[in-house]
Amino acid sequence: MPTTTARGTRRLRVGIIGLGIGRKHIEGWQEHPEVEVAAIADPDAQRLDAVGAEYGIAARFASAEAMLAAGGLDVVSVCAPNKFHMAHTLAAFEAGAHVLCEKPMAMNADEGRAMLAAARRAGKRLMINFSYRFSAASRGLKAQVDAGVFGEFYFGRSVWHRRRGLPGFGGWFGTKALAGGGALIDLGVHRLDLALWLMGYPTPTWVLGSTHDPIARGLAARSGKLFDVEDLAAALIRFDNGATLIVEASWAANIQQAELMETRLLGTKAGLLQKNLDEGYRFDAHIFTEHHGAQLDIHLQPPVLPAHSAMHDYATAILTGGDHPAPGEEGLIVMEILDAIYESARCGEPVRISI
Ligand SMILES: NC(=O)c1ccc[n+]([C@@H]2O[C@H](COP(=O)([O-])OP(=O)(O)OC[C@H]3O[C@@H](n4cnc5c(N)ncnc54)[C@H](O)[C@@H]3O)[C@@H](O)[C@H]2O)c1
Repeated sequence: MPTTTARGTRRLRVGIIGLGIGRKHIEGWQEHPEVEVAAIADPDAQRLDAVGAEYGIAARFASAEAMLAAGGLDVVSVCAPNKFHMAHTLAAFEAGAHVLCEKPMAMNADEGRAMLAAARRAGKRLMINFSYRFSAASRGLKAQVDAGVFGEFYFGRSVWHRRRGLPGFGGWFGTKALAGGGALIDLGVHRLDLALWLMGYPTPTWVLGSTHDPIARGLAARSGKLFDVEDLAAALIRFDNGATLIVEASWAANIQQAELMETRLLGTKAGLLQKNLDEGYRFDAHIFTEHHGAQLDIHLQPPVLPAHSAMHDYATAILTGGDHPAPGEEGLIVMEILDAIYESARCGEPVRISI
């Protein structure tokens, strides 16, 4: 691929660390005509070669460190397991790159703070891949929020439940030391961000949370493999503007649907619902309100708004100097809330958050 664009400007050179969801990053970056995915890194040699061959990427590295030492990257996608997000992000800033880090931002808020401090020191951007903001349904609702359709949000409930969607036992997802937590930090993080983003990221003040593992515990014990995180978490979050939000997430729950994602927010003028269709990964959006004495249901028809990948929009922000669409500062607020939920679950008391 040529290194300059039709406008004569240099393409953004992107490197990807971790090639699970990292493959989706390659496709997302390739949506943008002024981006070149220039290098990939993964310790799994077979996967590295397979992905390199599939996407025509010649610069392949067995480690993030080797890829960053080779230099020449403008942006790095951090897509390794959660445990490595902070180290890879700090190293990428050291190497002079901007970072798009996968969710969750980090293992905890302390790490998130260190990542933001490093971004400021390096004068680089840090964005978190809160990918559920980028669906047409989410974008359509956000445009209505920004137009003032809902008034002030005062209550919400945002959930992602799976009937049986436990990751394999013995892998990194079920290992606290590598993942930081279970269904909450994996799935809940998306629905939490989506609700907060639509609410305008109010400041959280306290949290009451609980975690459980009744289904995973028995299955893991029978498998003889490690699984030391929750299979379900729930929390009530209160904000400084008086609003409250319930968040629920599970990898295993005895519910009707295989996969249930719903975000409901109630505003002083109208309510919204963003939910998945057919227990899958397509979404739609509804608005419920009252108009001249009648109760009105509005269904936003797809395509609500053209939606690009997070990578496309991040590239545009870097190239134009515009705001980036899911900043690290918001990732840190999510981490503060997750820390408080896990602490509340541990101690059995509400936990105050001071930001
Ligand atoms: N935004 C989303 O919707 C979404 C979806 C899936 C995963 N994720 C996030 O992406 C990250 C990776 O998840 P995944 O599902 O791709 O996991 P995965 O296990 O499928 O893939 C992780 C890849 O990283 C590689 N890896 C492991 N240690 C590494 C290291 N130290 N340096 C470089 N590469 C390393 C592994 O070999 C593997 O190829 C997690 O943080 C996860 O939460 C986000």
